[in-house]
Formats: sequence, structure tokens, C-alpha cells
Amino acid sequence: MAAGSPGLRINGARLLESLARLAEIGATPEGGAERLAFTPEDGAGRDLVRSWMEDAGLEVRVDGIGNVIGRRAGEDPDAAPVMLGSHIDTVGNGGRYDGNLGVLAALEVARTLNDGNTRTRRPLEVAIFSNEEGSRYHPDMMGSLVYTGGLDLETAWALRNPDGSQTLKEELEAIGYLGDAPLPGPVPAAYVELHIEQGPVLEAENIDFGAVTGVQGILWEEITLNGKANHAGTTPMRFRHDAGVVAAEAVLLARRLTREIPAQVATVGRMSFAPGLTNVVPGRATFTLDIRNPDPDRLLRAEDGFFSGLDAAAEREGVRIERRELARFGPAVFDEKVISLVEEVAATLGKSCRRMPSGAGHDAQMLSRVCPTGMVFVPSVGGVSHNPTEFTRDADVAAGGNALFAVAFKLLKS
Ligand code: GLV
Ligand code: MN
Ligand code: MN
Repeated sequence: MAAGSPGLRINGARLLESLARLAEIGATPEGGAERLAFTPEDGAGRDLVRSWMEDAGLEVRVDGIGNVIGRRAGEDPDAAPVMLGSHIDTVGNGGRYDGNLGVLAALEVARTLNDGNTRTRRPLEVAIFSNEEGSRYHPDMMGSLVYTGGLDLETAWALRNPDGSQTLKEELEAIGYLGDAPLPGPVPAAYVELHIEQGPVLEAENIDFGAVTGVQGILWEEITLNGKANHAGTTPMRFRHDAGVVAAEAVLLARRLTREIPAQVATVGRMSFAPGLTNVVPGRATFTLDIRNPDPDRLLRAEDGFFSGLDAAAEREGVRIERRELARFGPAVFDEKVISLVEEVAATLGKSCRRMPSGAGHDAQMLSRVCPTGMVFVPSVGGVSHNPTEFTRDADVAAGGNALFAVAFKLLKS
């Protein structure tokens, strides 16, 4: 079959069964899963996948940020490994496929090689990267960022959880994933990640695979607006310093920018008012901003446009702005050879494929800083993700697993 492999196909039923079993941990009533990074549910998910790695004969190591990496030996002891992986943490009330598919398909590649007693020149590594979602600790893609040397371990360890009760290091220890494998981690020969598209393009165009060309740039900030809490009945409008009004303007400002700047997306995904009472003018508003663009200059233009508009609104209302940067990553560009290999494999499997950028962040963008990297996308039904109804058809899951296998097999021989 594809690209010189000996005709091996993954076991699609086994991959689907693994996805279903992992989704039982932290299962949510609407059919999704919730395993927020470093919580006991995340720990239980890791325990299960780790036990499967061990059952597949992989040698498992855990590093200081909790990345779990299972290694299948190659014939050449000096050859750098081909790494496949993703994440198994989810957003709150998330889906069963985001990240999980990439990890379990990587494991399925190892299981398939085992089934055929197939030896490869390079070792194969299956990686679970910690805290890809960034829902409880920022930035997102933290495990792969630390692995590739973009964030220092001590800094990550000292971060505090959302209620401030524990550090990240304490939480890692509590779930049993404070390991001692070296960081930054050894550089693989290549990294490949299978992922659901999380958007509508492949389904709408009736295309089987995306050969991902890169990931757009992203900025996350938490913004606090400080006004003055006061009586809702007695404070004339002209005397108010209403943080809520400026926050409301911010949401519309973000939307307006997306009409002015090509390919711009912008989201205010969390907002709260304090004291948060019916009869009190909001004295404080806190919200997050997520802006993304494939073009770094346009992303900067969006950032400048947003904050100059917010400054003007805050000044009008007599409200003070505080900014806290949570994540800032430039666009990532994947390796031409890996992108072409994905296309070649798709053709050999008789599948349609198109090149496409990724709108979502992925561990692959961090690995692309250190080694040739690529991704395969499979269609997301209705383009829905970060939602319990996230769904990818069984046939597409299996086809994606076969594509990952074929790409990996070629690289393992290289
Ligand atoms: C990661 O899932 C992202 O927000 O892109
Ligand atoms: Mn993901
Ligand atoms: Mn996600």
C-alpha cells in the first residue's frame, strides 16, 4: 500500500473501541467528555492510555511537565525516533475526538506494527502532551511548548490553578505524573499528528483528508476593567464609571475588527462582572480575548485596533484597563516534505485530500519549531468542536488511522 508500506492496515474497530473507552472517563451527559488538564479525570485518562502503551510493549517515560511518551524500539539504536501524538485533556464539556484521536491513532500505529511483527529502522514514539487546551493553566499547548524548550519548567511548575489553591507542580504530583525524563526533550526525526479538522471545510467540500500546511497565529489576553461600583437607582448616568458598558463595547469591537481585517477571527469567550448584582453598577469586568490570524502583521493590526478602541471606550466611561497576556504564538509553517507525503499517502489510499491551514492550535505547531512536522485532518461532522456533540464518522476515523500509519511507516524507514 501507501508509500512503500507492506500492506498493513490499522485495526479500525480497535481504534474506535479505544476512543469509546477513553471517553467513558469524564463522560458528560450530552455524550462528550470533560478531562481538564491535571484534574483527577485527566489522571485517570492518562492511567488508561499509559496501561495500553505498556500492553503494547512500549517503554514509557514521563517528564516534568507530565508528558507521557511510549517508545517502540527501532533497528538502528542511533536513529532519532518518529514521534506521533497529540493530547487527551479536553476543554470543559468537550468532545471525545479532539486530541484523543491523535494519541489513540498513534498507539494504533504501534499496535499494528506489533501485529505484523514489523521492524522499523527508526524508533516510534507515541506522545501524550500535557495541557494542550490551556483551560486551567495558560498558555495552551504547554506540554509540547516545554518539551521543545519554549517555556521553562520552573515557570510552568509555579503557575497556580484557577482557584489558587495549588500549583501546577502540586497537581501533577497529586495525579502521579510528575516525572523526571529530561526537558527539553530529545528532538525527533519528524512529528506527525492526526486530528479532527474542528471546522466545516472538509465535510462541505466532501474531501477525505486535509494535508495541514500550518497553524495561524494566536493571542490570548485577560482584560480587567476597573470602574466604580455604585447604586443602580441613585447614580445618574453621567456620574457612572460602568465597567460593564466598556466590556460590552469590547465584544462588539472584536466583531467589528473581523469585518475589517482579512481572515481575522476574534472571540470573547469568558466575561464576568463584579459585584455581579442586579442593583449595582458593575465596578469591575473581567473578560478574555482570543484573536487569531494566519498573517502575523494582520494579527498585530487586530491587536492594535482592539486596544485603541478599548482605550477610547474606557476613557469615555472613566474606567481603567489592566491587561494580562495569556498566550502569544506566531503562525507555524509545516514541513513541505511531510505535507507532500500526506498527499502521496492519500492518493495511494484512493482518498481525496486538500492542503489547508489549521484554525485551531495544536501540539504540532510547537514540534514544528524543532523538527519536520505535519498533520492529517479528517472531517468533523457539522464543523463542530469544543462541544460534546463533536463527531467524526467511524469510516473517517479508520481512514485517518490508515493515513497516519502510512505516513509514519515511510518516515520510520527513512
Ligand atoms: C486549542 O484547542 C485551540 O484553542 O485552538
Ligand atoms: Mn486538539
Ligand atoms: Mn481543543
